[in-house]
Amino acid sequence: MFVHATAEIEDSAVIGEGTKVWHFCQIRRGARLGRDCVLGRGVFVDFEVVIGNGVKIQNYVGTTIGKWAMIGAGSVVTRDVPDHGLVVGNPAHLIGYVTASGRRVATQEEARNG
Ligand SMILES: CC(C)(COP(=O)(O)OP(=O)(O)OC[C@H]1O[C@@H](n2cnc3c(N)ncnc32)[C@H](O)[C@@H]1OP(=O)(O)O)[C@@H](O)C(=O)NCCC(=O)NCCS
Repeated sequence: MFVHATAEIEDSAVIGEGTKVWHFCQIRRGARLGRDCVLGRGVFVDFEVVIGNGVKIQNYVGTTIGKWAMIGAGSVVTRDVPDHGLVVGNPAHLIGYVTASGRRVATQEEARNG
């Protein structure tokens, strides 16, 4: 694991082995990042986001991963992910939403209502 000195990792965020977190990233509490991920400069990972293994998030203007979002293993994220969004693939695309407990649902409203 490598965390650049300018990155900010809040308590209770979990970062997998081999993952690199670059300049000015911010990772909020309860977020869980898998193994061997790369978070490029300025990525913002909100509360309780779940990121699979081998995910790359890169964007020099800063990419925001919304609260409770989930990113499938091996994905390459090139744009913002909304709160509760479930994204997969390269480039990652939205395939649905997940509740705070990780259950997949069809709409963001259902995801918000749990
Ligand atoms: C991400 C995940 C939770 C989605 O599960 P799901 O809601 O059951 O979705 P499905 O497995 O039915 O896949 C839906 C579609 O997304 C695709 N997909 C799923 N995961 C993918 C991934 N990691 N990369 C690329 N495509 C993926 C599937 O191929 C499928 O495509 P199709 O509709 O064209 O057939 C699941 O794929 C998974 O558990 N992956 C492995 C572990 C992981 O990445 N967990 C998340 C973080 S720990």
